[in-house]
Amino acid sequence: MPITPHIVIIVASTRTTRFADHPLNWVVAETLKHSEFTFEVLDLREHTLATFDSPIPPAIKPREYGSKVQRTVGEKLDGADGFLVIANEYNHGYNAAVKNLLDSFFVEWNRKPISFVGYGNVGGARAIEQLRLVADELDMASVRPTVNVLGPQIMAIRGGADPLETLAVLEPRLEALLADLHWWATALKIARAADKEATDASDDAA
Ligand SMILES: Cc1cc2nc3c(=O)[nH]c(=O)nc-3n(C[C@H](O)[C@H](O)[C@H](O)COP(=O)(O)O)c2cc1C
Repeated sequence: MPITPHIVIIVASTRTTRFADHPLNWVVAETLKHSEFTFEVLDLREHTLATFDSPIPPAIKPREYGSKVQRTVGEKLDGADGFLVIANEYNHGYNAAVKNLLDSFFVEWNRKPISFVGYGNVGGARAIEQLRLVADELDMASVRPTVNVLGPQIMAIRGGADPLETLAVLEPRLEALLADLHWWATALKIARAADKEATDASDDAA
């Protein structure tokens, strides 16, 4: 039976006036062509996590959710086989809300792929590279191809150009990203299931 990985699309920017909705809407429209996945959107503006305040790191005490919103988000992340971050760039880094999200969970991220559609003067590239470092520590595989919406494309859309038409030129990049994301999400889903089977078998034997 083919594996259909479930991908959570994370919208990092929480600004009221954010640009993020343009790349988000484009990505969501493109996902309709990809029945080899299922997708859901996790919008950090709709799920306001409190600033991380757990006395014990989530790596030590997994799934100890301190609030309803943390549980809702944690369960969404737990159900994912991979992630696609719509990544903004502030002051050559990623934004605080996405770091708070990453720090607030641990096992929910482990051994899953993470991929990036960035935007900014240089396509969010600096934020994405920093997010890759954090993803390493969360035991994730960061997907090599990225989509980078550049300054001139942002300016064009802000100036009134049709967002979907403007971003269409990036479709081959998104296709490359999704192809790799599918490979990693499938491979790691199989590997996680094998790990779980081995753990369950050793628990039964104990
Ligand atoms: C506080 C702040 C810092 C920014 N720093 C950068 C930056 O370092 N690099 C960049 O390419 N764009 C930077 N920008 C411009 C953002 O890329 C642009 O505002 C983008 O729309 C932000 O995403 P958002 O509107 O979805 O929040 C910055 C914007 C803000 C508000």
